[in-house]
Amino acid sequence: MGKREPIIAANWKMHKTVAEAREYVRRFRELVEGFSGVEIVLAPPFTALPAVREELCGTAIALAAQDMWHEPLGAYTGAISPLMLRDLGCQYVIIGHSERREHCKETDELINKKLRAAFAHGLTPILCVGEKLEDRRAGLTQAVLERQVRADLAGLAKGDVARLVIAYEPVWAIGTGETASPQDANEGAKFIRALVAKLWDEATAQSARIQYGGSVKPENIAALMAEENVDGALVGGASLDPAAFAEIVRRARG
Ligand code: 13P
Repeated sequence: MGKREPIIAANWKMHKTVAEAREYVRRFRELVEGFSGVEIVLAPPFTALPAVREELCGTAIALAAQDMWHEPLGAYTGAISPLMLRDLGCQYVIIGHSERREHCKETDELINKKLRAAFAHGLTPILCVGEKLEDRRAGLTQAVLERQVRADLAGLAKGDVARLVIAYEPVWAIGTGETASPQDANEGAKFIRALVAKLWDEATAQSARIQYGGSVKPENIAALMAEENVDGALVGGASLDPAAFAEIVRRARG
């Protein structure tokens, strides 16, 4: 079975002006020059996408958006469509991040629509799933993951699921400094993969890439990546510093 290509993505969340984003990319691209064997993705805020695209020109680093609406155009004030993201050169789009589930009340039904729209317009979604602390304490981690994966991926074609990226992000580990242990990260990723195999088939499950997210930093990335089911990371806070993020990418290569 061919090993999946690792994928390390920076989720800047609501950080960086256009000037700061340009400065970051200029430094970062020098730091990762010549790196191979790992796919690198940057997800700046919408406002910095065109500038980051420009600065990434000539590199293999991919561009992602942090969210999108599910209709291609129309009367949706304030929304950004998949067509607009394609127009800006995005290859990836983060969908269903826990911060959007929490603060913007995104439901699994909406997330499912967004996933379908992303695939329909040639974008690869990075779908975020993960349990909250109270779920974990109540022994409901797998039940929550199963509910999210079933609902979010409902009705997707096998070929689309095979190229999907899923980020397992336990909510209690996001921005808290508390990383899941490599074993916990692997358990979550393994459970998700087994569920995809059950709902589609083994080849599809082996092809989809599963990242871990939640307080990833240079110090813990190697141990996380050593786990069989962890194919990469979705990095928040530590991705805001180009040197730290480049170091994470370097150590992820194994
Ligand atoms: P932190 O790396 O800041 O914990 O954030 C993780 C995350 O939410 C990435 O999407």
